[in-house]
Amino acid sequence: MNIAVIGTGYVGLVSGTCFAEMGNSVICVDVDHQKIEKLKQGIIPIYEPGLEEMVLENHKKGDLLFTTSLKEALKSAEVAFIAVGTPMGEDGSADLQYVLAVAREIGEGMDRYLVVVDKSTVPVGTADLVKETILAAQKARGVEIPFDVVSNPEFLKEGDAINDFMKPDRVVVGAESARAMEKMRELYAPFTRSHDRFIAMGVRSAEMTKYAANAMLATKISFMNEISNICEATGADVNDVRVGIGSDKRIGYSFIYPGCGYGGSCFPKDVKALEKIALEHGITPRVIGAVEEVNREQKKVLVRKITARFGENLQGKSFGIWGLSFKPETDDMREASSIVLIKELLARGATIKAYDPKAMEEARHFYLKEHPEILYTSNKYDALNGASAMVLVTEWKEFRSPDFYEIKNRLLEPVIFDGRNQYKKERLGEMGIEYHQIGVAIHRT
Ligand code: UDX
Repeated sequence: MNIAVIGTGYVGLVSGTCFAEMGNSVICVDVDHQKIEKLKQGIIPIYEPGLEEMVLENHKKGDLLFTTSLKEALKSAEVAFIAVGTPMGEDGSADLQYVLAVAREIGEGMDRYLVVVDKSTVPVGTADLVKETILAAQKARGVEIPFDVVSNPEFLKEGDAINDFMKPDRVVVGAESARAMEKMRELYAPFTRSHDRFIAMGVRSAEMTKYAANAMLATKISFMNEISNICEATGADVNDVRVGIGSDKRIGYSFIYPGCGYGGSCFPKDVKALEKIALEHGITPRVIGAVEEVNREQKKVLVRKITARFGENLQGKSFGIWGLSFKPETDDMREASSIVLIKELLARGATIKAYDPKAMEEARHFYLKEHPEILYTSNKYDALNGASAMVLVTEWKEFRSPDFYEIKNRLLEPVIFDGRNQYKKERLGEMGIEYHQIGVAIHRT
């Protein structure tokens, strides 16, 4: 099938590449000339395991092309995916200007029946806006070419995106016409072969499914973080409680890990956008509002623990931070807890040394660029030299079994604050390391 993918961000690039991998002819479009030039040379703008090789291979075969001209991509396209960003607007709602600009251009450039797919996460009702925009652009040209607008939300996780796309739990498609639904079924058949994972529904339901899924997952996390705070106050150990409740199949083990808050490009943005959608429709969402509020507070949980231990004034104290990205296996720092933690520590006069396997460039040049005083180290132990404590923020694999003797040697005092509960308190206790984790009260001797 001939496919155009508009927007070569995370979702667009992964989707386009995976469609090409299945033998489709894909043209990826972006307005950013530099990005397109780099992609043509096989330089990809993000870190995602396995993606670079797949882009290179399919580009070489000619199944994956890159262009800045949407018109060119539309010449042969049977399906056009809109995968441009929907950043959070000032008021918390999704900013649709990029989606609608693409819709206009599609209306101006298309010359045959086309299935237009909303892949970006967009508020309920956006497909109708896209349709109106395309119709208006066609009218201005004096043409009337049939098309359908379909919603096909993306559920991929950063760090495991290729696997998620190639072997999806489900493919959700919302369409109002049988013709468009058939086309989408055909396109996704190779990905859902083992058994039918294709879930067909109305356009608005598909749009809502994405928000409901992300809000549900974020709710599990915030709920667990709230429980962890109660555990800590009551003397319970959240690590045991987590296993205790997860063993109930109805609850399940996933997404109940307590921590220093969720981040990323989806949960924070989508939870806020869903709240906004509800309010616009006259509903005051109580659970969803609380999910976001709990998370905002939870991002400060390590700051609270550090100041409880070392006092509000951290002048002359250094902290070694392990992990900057919002989760492991990505260099993405959007809404990362590390940003809140580091800024709060710096504001109290502390010195910061940080190490992350992939995200240090992002931090230095973008997310923490207003703090050139942060020292980034080339290995995890160097970040601890002369520090009062080690603070683990992101649970990268290389932090799971560190050399605790080395940690002790490098630190001024053997103190660890663990925002992701990675270690066994008994083991650290035996080694004389003071171990602060989430949801477990600490009794210092
Ligand atoms: C998420 C959804 O999982 C995906 O389906 C959707 O398409 C986009 O949003 P992603 O943002 O890549 O994917 O990350 P995810 O692995 O879901 O983690 C999100 C955040 O939640 C991370 O900051 C992670 O540390 C945190 N988290 C996750 C917890 O704090 N506890 C958990 O139990 C699970």
